[in-house]
Amino acid sequence: MRSVVVAAAVAALAFGVAQAQDGMRTGPTAPDLAEGKAVFAKWCAPCHAPNPGLAGTFALQHKYDGKVPAALENRTDLQPALVAYFVRNGVAWMPPFRPTEISDAQLAALNAYLTAPLDQRGAPAELLAEEMVQLRSEGQ
Ligand code: HEC
Repeated sequence: MRSVVVAAAVAALAFGVAQAQDGMRTGPTAPDLAEGKAVFAKWCAPCHAPNPGLAGTFALQHKYDGKVPAALENRTDLQPALVAYFVRNGVAWMPPFRPTEISDAQLAALNAYLTAPLDQRGAPAELLAEEMVQLRSEGQ
């Protein structure tokens, strides 16, 4: 019994540290990742930014139960082919994106951003819908 409690405490601590690290990444983005980050900010961040109330982040938190970061920008396990599949086909209430919205070149740049080493990605993309999230968190 005692070891179960200790294991739970260690797991909670590890989870807390992982969460803190997710939120702590700051600094500049490598110049060659800027285009992909801009694509992410425009098309993906409204659902996938590191905010637990957003549709994508919320769904992935529940799908993986914390085993991988809920925010896509904090993941290191994404493969370009997998991202491309979801972007072109959608899933659940994530819409598919047409090449007229996200071109193949932009998708390649997006993939470069989402698969780059974490320390090259810089701070998470700016959440363009921040005001909306703010309003909702204030209950309006
Ligand atoms: C309208 C909200 C919304 C937008 C916009 C959106 N997504 Fe999603 N996305 C979701 C939801 C919700 C899921 C999880 C669905 C599920 O499996 O329950 C998801 C899942 C994913 C997954 C699967 C991850 C996994 O491990 O299962 C990837 C990859 C992904 N999105 C990438 C993107 C990218 C890249 C963009 C921008 C081009 C984007 N999404 C835009 C809502 C969105």
